[in-house]
Amino acid sequence: MPVVLKDLIKENVSRVAPYVPGRPIELVEQELGIKHVLKFASNENPLGPSPLAIKALSENAKQLNRYPDSSSYFLRKRLSKHIGFPMEQIIVGNGSNELIELICHLFAGAGDEVVVGDPSFPMYKIAIDLMGATPVLVPLKDYRFDMAAMAKAVTPKTTVVFVCNPNNPTGTIVTEAEVREFMDGIPEKVVVVFDEAYCEYVKNPDYPDTFKLLREGRLVISLRTFSKIYALAGLRVGYGVASEEMVFLLNTVRLPFNVTSAAQVAAEASLDDEEQVTRSIRVNSEGMAFFKEKLTELGLTMIDSEANFFLVDLGVDCKAASRELEKRGLIVRPVGPFGLPDTFVRISVGIREENERLLEGLKEVLAGTKRKKKGESAREARLQMP
Ligand SMILES: Cc1ncc(COP(=O)(O)O)c(C=O)c1O
Repeated sequence: MPVVLKDLIKENVSRVAPYVPGRPIELVEQELGIKHVLKFASNENPLGPSPLAIKALSENAKQLNRYPDSSSYFLRKRLSKHIGFPMEQIIVGNGSNELIELICHLFAGAGDEVVVGDPSFPMYKIAIDLMGATPVLVPLKDYRFDMAAMAKAVTPKTTVVFVCNPNNPTGTIVTEAEVREFMDGIPEKVVVVFDEAYCEYVKNPDYPDTFKLLREGRLVISLRTFSKIYALAGLRVGYGVASEEMVFLLNTVRLPFNVTSAAQVAAEASLDDEEQVTRSIRVNSEGMAFFKEKLTELGLTMIDSEANFFLVDLGVDCKAASRELEKRGLIVRPVGPFGLPDTFVRISVGIREENERLLEGLKEVLAGTKRKKKGESAREARLQMP
Protein backbone atom coordinates (compact mmCIF):
# COMPACT_ATOMS: atom_id res chain seq x y z
CA MET A 1 0.00 0.00 0.00
CA PRO A 2 1.43 3.42 -0.91
CA VAL A 3 1.86 5.74 2.05
CA VAL A 4 -0.74 8.53 2.10
CA LEU A 5 1.08 11.40 3.80
CA LYS A 6 -2.13 13.23 4.63
CA ASP A 7 -3.11 10.28 6.87
CA LEU A 8 0.12 10.66 8.83
CA ILE A 9 -0.04 14.36 9.70
CA LYS A 10 -1.56 15.70 12.93
CA GLU A 11 -5.36 15.64 12.80
CA ASN A 12 -5.77 19.34 13.56
CA VAL A 13 -3.28 20.28 10.85
CA SER A 14 -5.23 18.28 8.29
CA ARG A 15 -8.18 20.61 9.01
CA VAL A 16 -6.24 23.71 7.95
CA ALA A 17 -7.63 25.34 4.81
CA PRO A 18 -4.62 27.02 3.16
CA TYR A 19 -4.65 30.79 2.73
CA VAL A 20 -5.67 31.87 -0.78
CA PRO A 21 -3.61 34.95 -1.70
CA GLY A 22 -4.38 37.50 -4.43
CA ARG A 23 -2.99 36.50 -7.85
CA PRO A 24 0.50 37.91 -8.54
CA ILE A 25 0.77 40.43 -11.38
CA GLU A 26 3.67 38.66 -13.12
CA LEU A 27 1.83 35.34 -13.16
CA VAL A 28 -1.34 36.80 -14.67
CA GLU A 29 0.77 38.64 -17.28
CA GLN A 30 2.59 35.43 -18.19
CA GLU A 31 -0.56 33.28 -18.28
CA LEU A 32 -2.56 35.68 -20.42
CA GLY A 33 0.34 37.04 -22.48
CA ILE A 34 -0.60 40.62 -21.59
CA LYS A 35 1.27 43.56 -20.04
CA HIS A 36 0.50 46.36 -17.60
CA VAL A 37 -1.71 44.26 -15.35
CA LEU A 38 -3.07 46.17 -12.35
CA LYS A 39 -3.71 44.50 -9.01
CA PHE A 40 -6.61 45.52 -6.80
CA ALA A 41 -6.63 42.27 -4.86
CA SER A 42 -4.32 42.45 -1.85
CA ASN A 43 -4.97 45.79 -0.13
CA GLU A 44 -1.51 47.08 -0.97
CA ASN A 45 -0.50 50.72 -1.10
CA PRO A 46 -0.50 51.77 -4.78
CA LEU A 47 1.97 54.62 -4.18
CA GLY A 48 4.94 52.35 -3.55
CA PRO A 49 7.40 52.63 -0.65
CA SER A 50 8.82 55.87 0.69
CA PRO A 51 12.05 57.05 -1.04
CA LEU A 52 13.58 57.02 2.46
CA ALA A 53 12.83 53.28 2.72
CA ILE A 54 14.34 52.62 -0.71
CA LYS A 55 17.52 54.54 0.23
CA ALA A 56 17.84 52.61 3.51
CA LEU A 57 17.35 49.35 1.61
CA SER A 58 20.06 50.04 -0.91
CA GLU A 59 22.50 51.00 1.85
CA ASN A 60 21.60 47.80 3.69
CA ALA A 61 22.28 45.67 0.60
CA LYS A 62 26.04 45.79 1.21
CA GLN A 63 25.60 44.08 4.56
CA LEU A 64 23.42 41.18 3.50
CA ASN A 65 26.24 38.79 4.43
CA ARG A 66 25.35 39.52 8.09
CA TYR A 67 22.43 38.04 10.03
CA PRO A 68 19.83 40.60 11.03
CA ASP A 69 19.55 41.89 14.58
CA SER A 70 17.34 39.21 16.07
CA SER A 71 15.67 41.62 18.50
CA SER A 72 14.91 44.33 15.89
CA TYR A 73 16.44 46.70 18.47
CA PHE A 74 16.66 49.91 16.42
CA LEU A 75 13.26 49.46 14.84
CA ARG A 76 11.67 48.89 18.24
CA LYS A 77 13.49 51.96 19.57
CA ARG A 78 12.14 54.06 16.69
CA LEU A 79 8.66 52.56 17.14
CA SER A 80 8.82 53.36 20.82
CA LYS A 81 9.23 57.05 19.93
CA HIS A 82 6.47 56.75 17.33
CA ILE A 83 3.78 55.22 19.54
CA GLY A 84 4.88 56.28 23.03
CA PHE A 85 5.37 52.83 24.59
CA PRO A 86 8.66 51.49 25.99
CA MET A 87 10.46 49.22 23.56
CA GLU A 88 10.01 46.30 26.00
CA GLN A 89 6.31 46.49 25.13
CA ILE A 90 6.89 46.12 21.40
CA ILE A 91 7.51 42.95 19.39
CA VAL A 92 8.39 42.98 15.69
CA GLY A 93 7.22 40.15 13.47
CA ASN A 94 7.65 38.76 9.97
CA GLY A 95 4.50 40.62 9.03
CA SER A 96 1.74 40.87 11.62
CA ASN A 97 0.82 37.41 10.31
CA GLU A 98 3.67 35.94 12.31
CA LEU A 99 2.43 37.63 15.47
CA ILE A 100 -1.04 36.09 15.00
CA GLU A 101 0.64 32.70 14.91
CA LEU A 102 2.82 33.45 17.96
CA ILE A 103 -0.25 34.48 19.95
CA CYS A 104 -1.92 31.18 19.07
CA HIS A 105 1.28 29.33 20.00
CA LEU A 106 1.02 30.75 23.50
CA PHE A 107 -2.69 30.62 24.14
CA ALA A 108 -4.47 28.27 21.74
CA GLY A 109 -4.01 24.57 22.43
CA ALA A 110 -6.27 21.52 22.33
CA GLY A 111 -9.42 22.20 24.36
CA ASP A 112 -9.11 26.00 24.09
CA GLU A 113 -11.63 28.11 22.23
CA VAL A 114 -10.72 31.18 20.23
CA VAL A 115 -13.47 33.58 19.23
CA VAL A 116 -13.32 35.36 15.86
CA GLY A 117 -15.76 37.21 13.64
CA ASP A 118 -16.82 35.59 10.39
CA PRO A 119 -16.02 36.44 7.67
CA SER A 120 -12.72 37.97 8.65
CA PHE A 121 -9.01 37.70 7.93
CA PRO A 122 -8.43 33.95 7.28
CA MET A 123 -5.10 33.83 9.14
CA TYR A 124 -6.84 33.69 12.54
CA LYS A 125 -8.62 30.45 11.73
CA ILE A 126 -5.54 28.99 10.07
CA ALA A 127 -3.39 29.69 13.15
CA ILE A 128 -6.08 28.40 15.55
CA ASP A 129 -6.47 25.16 13.57
CA LEU A 130 -2.70 24.76 13.33
CA MET A 131 -2.39 24.86 17.10
CA GLY A 132 -5.24 22.40 17.64
CA ALA A 133 -7.61 24.83 19.35
CA THR A 134 -11.26 25.30 18.43
CA PRO A 135 -12.23 28.35 16.38
CA VAL A 136 -15.58 29.82 17.45
CA LEU A 137 -16.87 31.77 14.46
CA VAL A 138 -19.32 34.55 15.22
CA PRO A 139 -21.24 35.81 12.16
CA LEU A 140 -20.95 39.48 11.30
CA LYS A 141 -24.04 41.64 11.55
CA ASP A 142 -24.58 44.08 8.69
CA TYR A 143 -21.00 43.36 7.61
CA ARG A 144 -19.62 44.48 11.01
CA PHE A 145 -18.16 42.55 13.92
CA ASP A 146 -21.06 41.87 16.30
CA MET A 147 -19.37 42.61 19.62
CA ALA A 148 -22.42 41.66 21.71
CA ALA A 149 -22.56 38.23 20.04
CA MET A 150 -18.79 37.90 20.41
CA ALA A 151 -19.11 38.52 24.18
CA LYS A 152 -21.86 35.88 24.37
CA ALA A 153 -19.60 33.40 22.54
CA VAL A 154 -16.95 33.69 25.27
CA THR A 155 -17.03 30.63 27.57
CA PRO A 156 -14.73 29.41 30.37
CA LYS A 157 -12.75 27.67 27.61
CA THR A 158 -12.09 30.90 25.69
CA THR A 159 -8.46 31.97 25.77
CA VAL A 160 -8.27 34.52 22.95
CA VAL A 161 -10.59 36.80 20.98
CA PHE A 162 -9.50 38.31 17.65
CA VAL A 163 -11.06 41.64 16.67
CA CYS A 164 -10.17 42.70 13.15
CA ASN A 165 -10.65 46.46 13.09
CA PRO A 166 -11.14 47.57 10.33
CA ASN A 167 -12.27 44.14 9.29
CA ASN A 168 -10.87 42.44 6.23
CA PRO A 169 -12.77 41.77 3.89
CA THR A 170 -15.62 44.15 4.80
CA GLY A 171 -13.65 47.32 5.67
CA THR A 172 -16.04 48.10 8.55
CA ILE A 173 -15.06 49.05 12.10
CA VAL A 174 -16.31 48.50 15.62
CA THR A 175 -16.52 51.60 17.82
CA GLU A 176 -14.91 52.64 21.09
CA ALA A 177 -18.26 52.24 22.91
CA GLU A 178 -18.77 48.72 21.52
CA VAL A 179 -15.26 47.69 22.48
CA ARG A 180 -15.59 49.15 26.00
CA GLU A 181 -18.85 47.30 26.60
CA PHE A 182 -17.31 44.11 25.25
CA MET A 183 -14.23 44.41 27.47
CA ASP A 184 -16.41 45.04 30.52
CA GLY A 185 -18.47 41.93 29.78
CA ILE A 186 -15.73 39.30 29.44
CA PRO A 187 -13.42 37.68 32.00
CA GLU A 188 -10.15 39.55 32.58
CA LYS A 189 -8.07 36.50 31.70
CA VAL A 190 -9.19 36.42 28.05
CA VAL A 191 -6.54 37.86 25.72
CA VAL A 192 -8.14 40.30 23.28
CA VAL A 193 -6.20 40.89 20.08
CA PHE A 194 -7.01 43.98 18.03
CA ASP A 195 -5.70 43.57 14.51
CA GLU A 196 -5.31 47.16 13.32
CA ALA A 197 -3.54 46.55 10.02
CA TYR A 198 -5.52 49.37 8.37
CA CYS A 199 -5.89 51.76 11.34
CA GLU A 200 -4.03 54.65 9.71
CA TYR A 201 -6.75 54.93 7.06
CA VAL A 202 -9.66 55.17 9.52
CA LYS A 203 -11.51 58.51 9.62
CA ASN A 204 -14.38 57.65 11.95
CA PRO A 205 -13.84 59.49 15.29
CA ASP A 206 -15.47 56.57 17.14
CA TYR A 207 -12.56 54.26 16.26
CA PRO A 208 -11.30 52.73 19.53
CA ASP A 209 -7.98 53.64 21.12
CA THR A 210 -6.71 50.20 22.09
CA PHE A 211 -3.42 51.61 23.38
CA LYS A 212 -5.53 53.27 26.09
CA LEU A 213 -6.95 49.88 27.08
CA LEU A 214 -3.40 48.58 27.36
CA ARG A 215 -2.38 51.53 29.54
CA GLU A 216 -5.36 50.77 31.77
CA GLY A 217 -3.87 47.32 32.35
CA ARG A 218 -6.29 45.29 30.19
CA LEU A 219 -5.07 42.06 28.60
CA VAL A 220 -4.94 43.35 25.03
CA ILE A 221 -2.51 43.10 22.14
CA SER A 222 -2.62 45.67 19.34
CA LEU A 223 -1.24 44.48 16.00
CA ARG A 224 -0.03 46.89 13.34
CA THR A 225 1.81 46.45 10.05
CA PHE A 226 4.18 48.12 7.62
CA SER A 227 2.48 46.27 4.74
CA LYS A 228 -0.35 48.73 4.16
CA ILE A 229 0.08 52.48 4.73
CA TYR A 230 3.90 52.14 4.76
CA ALA A 231 3.80 50.17 1.50
CA LEU A 232 6.31 47.50 2.52
CA ALA A 233 4.22 44.34 2.03
CA GLY A 234 7.03 42.68 0.08
CA LEU A 235 9.42 42.92 3.02
CA ARG A 236 7.16 41.32 5.64
CA VAL A 237 7.25 43.41 8.78
CA GLY A 238 4.62 44.16 11.39
CA TYR A 239 4.56 44.81 15.13
CA GLY A 240 2.57 44.14 18.24
CA VAL A 241 2.13 46.30 21.33
CA ALA A 242 1.27 44.61 24.62
CA SER A 243 2.36 44.38 28.25
CA GLU A 244 6.06 43.78 28.91
CA GLU A 245 5.27 40.29 30.22
CA MET A 246 3.22 39.45 27.11
CA VAL A 247 6.02 40.61 24.82
CA PHE A 248 8.53 38.56 26.82
CA LEU A 249 6.36 35.45 26.41
CA LEU A 250 5.73 36.03 22.72
CA ASN A 251 9.50 36.25 22.27
CA THR A 252 9.90 32.80 23.79
CA VAL A 253 7.96 31.24 20.88
CA ARG A 254 9.47 33.46 18.19
CA LEU A 255 12.20 32.05 15.96
CA PRO A 256 15.49 33.99 15.96
CA PHE A 257 16.20 36.33 13.01
CA ASN A 258 12.49 36.43 12.14
CA VAL A 259 12.68 39.86 10.50
CA THR A 260 15.25 40.54 7.77
CA SER A 261 17.70 43.41 8.12
CA ALA A 262 16.21 44.89 4.93
CA ALA A 263 12.75 44.93 6.51
CA GLN A 264 14.07 46.46 9.74
CA VAL A 265 15.93 49.37 8.12
CA ALA A 266 13.18 50.10 5.59
CA ALA A 267 10.49 50.11 8.26
CA GLU A 268 12.54 52.39 10.47
CA ALA A 269 13.13 54.83 7.62
CA SER A 270 9.44 54.77 6.62
CA LEU A 271 8.44 56.08 10.01
CA ASP A 272 10.36 59.28 9.22
CA ASP A 273 8.27 59.94 6.11
CA GLU A 274 5.09 61.47 7.47
CA GLU A 275 4.39 63.11 4.12
CA GLN A 276 4.06 59.67 2.50
CA VAL A 277 1.51 58.64 5.11
CA THR A 278 -0.51 61.82 4.58
CA ARG A 279 -0.39 61.36 0.79
CA SER A 280 -1.44 57.70 1.08
CA ILE A 281 -4.45 58.66 3.18
CA ARG A 282 -5.43 61.42 0.74
CA VAL A 283 -5.07 59.24 -2.38
CA ASN A 284 -7.11 56.52 -0.67
CA SER A 285 -9.91 58.93 0.36
CA GLU A 286 -10.09 60.34 -3.15
CA GLY A 287 -10.17 56.85 -4.67
CA MET A 288 -12.84 55.70 -2.25
CA ALA A 289 -15.01 58.74 -3.07
CA PHE A 290 -14.48 58.11 -6.81
CA PHE A 291 -15.65 54.51 -6.53
CA LYS A 292 -18.57 55.43 -4.27
CA GLU A 293 -19.83 57.91 -6.84
CA LYS A 294 -19.20 55.84 -9.97
CA LEU A 295 -20.35 52.46 -8.64
CA THR A 296 -23.52 54.00 -7.22
CA GLU A 297 -24.17 55.49 -10.65
CA LEU A 298 -23.90 51.97 -12.05
CA GLY A 299 -26.54 50.85 -9.55
CA LEU A 300 -24.10 48.72 -7.54
CA THR A 301 -24.07 48.38 -3.75
CA MET A 302 -20.76 49.19 -2.09
CA ILE A 303 -20.21 48.50 1.61
CA ASP A 304 -18.92 51.65 3.38
CA SER A 305 -15.29 51.06 4.30
CA GLU A 306 -12.78 52.71 6.63
CA ALA A 307 -9.83 50.90 5.05
CA ASN A 308 -7.99 50.97 1.69
CA PHE A 309 -10.36 48.43 0.12
CA PHE A 310 -14.09 47.86 -0.11
CA LEU A 311 -16.65 45.21 -0.90
CA VAL A 312 -19.03 45.64 -3.80
CA ASP A 313 -21.91 43.51 -4.99
CA LEU A 314 -21.55 43.23 -8.77
CA GLY A 315 -24.81 41.30 -9.04
CA VAL A 316 -23.12 38.72 -11.31
CA ASP A 317 -21.12 35.58 -10.63
CA CYS A 318 -17.83 37.09 -9.49
CA LYS A 319 -15.58 34.20 -10.38
CA ALA A 320 -16.56 34.62 -14.04
CA ALA A 321 -16.46 38.42 -13.77
CA SER A 322 -12.97 38.31 -12.21
CA ARG A 323 -11.72 36.10 -15.02
CA GLU A 324 -13.10 38.58 -17.54
CA LEU A 325 -11.48 41.45 -15.65
CA GLU A 326 -8.18 39.56 -15.60
CA LYS A 327 -8.28 39.25 -19.37
CA ARG A 328 -8.39 43.06 -19.36
CA GLY A 329 -5.38 43.17 -17.03
CA LEU A 330 -7.35 43.88 -13.84
CA ILE A 331 -7.00 41.62 -10.79
CA VAL A 332 -9.72 41.86 -8.11
CA ARG A 333 -10.55 39.50 -5.26
CA PRO A 334 -13.70 37.35 -5.36
CA VAL A 335 -14.72 36.80 -1.74
CA GLY A 336 -16.64 33.53 -2.05
CA PRO A 337 -13.80 31.79 -0.14
CA PHE A 338 -14.45 34.19 2.77
CA GLY A 339 -18.04 32.91 2.94
CA LEU A 340 -19.55 36.00 1.32
CA PRO A 341 -22.11 35.95 -1.51
CA ASP A 342 -20.62 34.85 -4.81
CA THR A 343 -21.55 38.17 -6.43
CA PHE A 344 -19.25 40.17 -4.15
CA VAL A 345 -15.69 41.22 -4.89
CA ARG A 346 -13.18 43.03 -2.74
CA ILE A 347 -11.39 45.86 -4.46
CA SER A 348 -8.31 47.66 -3.18
CA VAL A 349 -8.23 51.37 -3.98
CA GLY A 350 -5.56 52.41 -6.48
CA ILE A 351 -4.29 55.73 -7.80
CA ARG A 352 -6.63 57.79 -9.98
CA GLU A 353 -5.60 56.35 -13.39
CA GLU A 354 -5.77 52.80 -12.04
CA ASN A 355 -9.21 53.36 -10.57
CA GLU A 356 -10.42 54.77 -13.87
CA ARG A 357 -9.10 51.75 -15.76
CA LEU A 358 -10.83 49.41 -13.35
CA LEU A 359 -14.11 51.28 -13.67
CA GLU A 360 -13.97 51.02 -17.46
CA GLY A 361 -13.16 47.29 -17.20
CA LEU A 362 -16.05 46.76 -14.79
CA LYS A 363 -18.46 48.55 -17.10
CA GLU A 364 -17.41 46.36 -20.04
CA VAL A 365 -17.63 43.13 -18.08
CA LEU A 366 -21.00 43.97 -16.52
CA ALA A 367 -22.41 44.99 -19.90
CA GLY A 368 -21.61 41.50 -21.19
CA THR A 369 -22.81 39.49 -18.19
CA LYS A 370 -26.25 38.53 -16.92
CA ARG A 371 -27.00 40.25 -13.61
CA LYS A 372 -28.45 38.10 -10.81
CA LYS A 373 -31.68 39.25 -9.19
CA LYS A 374 -31.13 41.24 -5.99
CA GLY A 375 -30.87 38.92 -3.00
CA GLU A 376 -30.42 35.78 -5.11
CA SER A 377 -26.73 35.42 -4.34
CA ALA A 378 -27.15 36.32 -0.67
CA ARG A 379 -29.58 33.46 -0.18
CA GLU A 380 -26.90 31.12 -1.46
CA ALA A 381 -24.39 32.40 1.07
CA ARG A 382 -24.26 32.37 4.83
CA LEU A 383 -24.33 36.13 5.23
CA GLN A 384 -27.63 37.91 4.66
CA MET A 385 -27.79 41.16 2.74
CA PRO A 386 -28.65 44.21 4.89
C1 LIG B 1 -6.55 42.25 8.82
C2 LIG B 1 -5.18 41.91 8.40
N1 LIG B 1 -4.27 41.61 9.33
C3 LIG B 1 -3.01 41.30 8.99
C4 LIG B 1 -2.64 41.26 7.67
C5 LIG B 1 -1.26 40.80 7.32
O1 LIG B 1 -0.37 41.79 7.45
P1 LIG B 1 1.17 41.48 7.31
O2 LIG B 1 1.51 41.76 5.91
O3 LIG B 1 1.75 42.47 8.29
O4 LIG B 1 1.45 40.07 7.71
C6 LIG B 1 -3.53 41.58 6.67
C7 LIG B 1 -3.11 41.54 5.27
O5 LIG B 1 -3.82 41.60 4.34
C8 LIG B 1 -4.85 41.91 7.05
O6 LIG B 1 -5.77 42.18 6.13
